[in-house]
Amino acid sequence: MEITGIVEKFKSLYGANPIIARAPGRVNLIGEHTDYNDGFVLPAAVDKEIVFALQKNGSSTVRVFSMDMQQSAQFELNQMVPQQGWVNYIIGVFAELIKKGVKAEGTDLVFAGDVPLGAGMSSSAALESALATGINYLYNGGLSKLELALAAQAAEHNYAGVKCGLMDQYASIFGKTDHVIKLDCRTQQHEYFKFDFSEFMLVLCDTNVKHSLASSEYNVRRAQCETGVEIVRKKYPHVRNLRDITLEMLKEVKSEMETIIYNRCEYVIEENMRVEKACNALINNDFKTFGQMMYLSHDGLQHKYEVSCPELDYLVEMAKKHPSVLGSRMMGGGFGGCTINLIHKDAVDEFILKMATAYQQKTGLEMKAYRVKIGEGARVEIM
Ligand code: GLA
Repeated sequence: MEITGIVEKFKSLYGANPIIARAPGRVNLIGEHTDYNDGFVLPAAVDKEIVFALQKNGSSTVRVFSMDMQQSAQFELNQMVPQQGWVNYIIGVFAELIKKGVKAEGTDLVFAGDVPLGAGMSSSAALESALATGINYLYNGGLSKLELALAAQAAEHNYAGVKCGLMDQYASIFGKTDHVIKLDCRTQQHEYFKFDFSEFMLVLCDTNVKHSLASSEYNVRRAQCETGVEIVRKKYPHVRNLRDITLEMLKEVKSEMETIIYNRCEYVIEENMRVEKACNALINNDFKTFGQMMYLSHDGLQHKYEVSCPELDYLVEMAKKHPSVLGSRMMGGGFGGCTINLIHKDAVDEFILKMATAYQQKTGLEMKAYRVKIGEGARVEIM
């Protein structure tokens, strides 16, 4: 993203030279709702980001201006209570970094971004990761990338109120151009896999809807997974979470579980297996198998985990009918946002046109499309 405007705004507001901290949004190829179950995910950073200009101001006040909202806000570092609106994310990141020992002081900030809001590309994780990276640098915090990702996640938990997993913040911080990140959420370690874009492309189709259920149902799913684990644990005391449970173990206690709990657990266990298969497929350049895993993932999210919605299902159903599409699935938390589609390069223009037309006819809504470019993770730039 172009940063000249942000730097100019910073200079005109505060009369000082800033440093720049930037961090991307993310896509997730497969491994949905597995991160908070200690499972595997396969995200990648995108080339859309949130950019902060920042500098110390010698006081104990944080002053911030949002270019996109054209709004300013400020707060005192000794009074960091959750507030309404976007400033909450800023407060959350300062609070969590200070908790981790970073000696942050009064700071001036200007920020802007081009991560589409509400599309499920994690604009909030991008914001948190960029700011955490910037503050850590500015105040010589010495935190590792993993500590920054954990602090950004904690900001989401404690200030935004969503008990998200680690995927979004991790991807935003560890992203690497043209690579997907296989993150093991238990060990919090990753492996990069090169994604070969010579023949295929990833395209996001945005439903343009965000059902209000999203954040409440998210926390419900977490609780349902924990309920399932409790039941299995009675028989297998070593079990910590769904990562430790095989399909066989789950089946053994099927009669002790409500069907809904069984289905939730079964989905997560199967999805972890699909991530493994998808990664092997990538190593072998077997995009066909990769695509099949995506379709199966969607099927599980729709019928077993029940976090999809009619708009997403329609887009996947349409994609399936297109001969050049290898795989398609809802992406992110669900109940709206985008589908992610693996498609032959040559067919992309025609695919987008067809999908948008069909979607408009079916729902009366506009479908936006994004061609995914995998970009770099969070970083600081000195002007
Ligand atoms: C949201 C959360 C992530 C992850 C996904 C579902 O994006 O922020 O941590 O749980 O939903 O895979």
